[in-house]
Amino acid sequence: MLPTVILYKTIPADLHAHLEQHCDLTVVNSLRDVLHPDMESLLARVEGLIGVNEMVGPELLDRAPKLRVVSTISVGYDIFDVADLSRRGIMLMHTPDVLTETTADMIFMLILCAARRATEMIELVRKGQWTKDIGSEHFGTDVYGKKLGILGMGRIGRSVAKRAHAGFNMEILYHSRSVNEQVEKDFMAQRHSFDHVLAESDFVCVTLPLSDQTKKLIGSRELALMKSDAFLINGGRGAIIDEAALIEALQKNVIRGAGLDVYEQEPLALDSPLLSLPNVVTLPHIGSATHETRHAMARVAVENLLAALADRSPVRCVNPEVI
Ligand code: DGY
Repeated sequence: MLPTVILYKTIPADLHAHLEQHCDLTVVNSLRDVLHPDMESLLARVEGLIGVNEMVGPELLDRAPKLRVVSTISVGYDIFDVADLSRRGIMLMHTPDVLTETTADMIFMLILCAARRATEMIELVRKGQWTKDIGSEHFGTDVYGKKLGILGMGRIGRSVAKRAHAGFNMEILYHSRSVNEQVEKDFMAQRHSFDHVLAESDFVCVTLPLSDQTKKLIGSRELALMKSDAFLINGGRGAIIDEAALIEALQKNVIRGAGLDVYEQEPLALDSPLLSLPNVVTLPHIGSATHETRHAMARVAVENLLAALADRSPVRCVNPEVI
């Protein structure tokens, strides 16, 4: 008998068809839909969930006694209570690696756009205000040869370092729990204390995952440590930065600017001061959002789900103790 699976995100047609071949598949718009009393029998037999960006909380888990696998189409899994899933014997699968280079590209785009004031310059052209040669009031900041501070030296941090070293001759400082000998050898990166990286870098780039340890890691104190002409770049998770403190720092020119792909609340509210500050580049959480990478992430999530349901020693499991 095919395992019962609920899909709560639209995935490419080829992968959808593949899932349909191997599972008894129910598609929902949102996991909220499966909490409806009509869905009780589906929840009673469901063994796998696949989707992204939705809480899988006790309300659902208590009603799904046969659930064995949750496959998220993301590398980040901060939205899950992993300890609770483990207690219930449910595997949580995720999609590292396939999005690394695409996300590093986006982070570099934020660095370049923030430094060269791309948002302001695009607006200026669009509004018909490009009526004479650009003068010093519109000049940006060099990236080439500057100091890049990377907070968190995981896969994405390493790929950002690779670009910075090979393409932009940047000096790389980093802070992470452990030494990364490879980045030190390959890109001449130097590991320093958290405060030193903040104080010395021209661009401070957050590539950390969100956890109890990293929540609001960067607040007023940390922003005040940064150079007044430095930029803060966030391609990790919004809650790592205290957004109110960042807004205040940007308003008071404590730092020169910011490039953000992630926010405390997403989607970002239209009345957020971040949208009216000229020195901020705001992207709508598009780190991995290319056709190729989103297809690859969905493919990996489908593979993860099917391997885990078939007990084929799944590899991208966040809580392997459950296996
Ligand atoms: C992830 O996979 O966690 C990303 O944030 C999605 O782009």
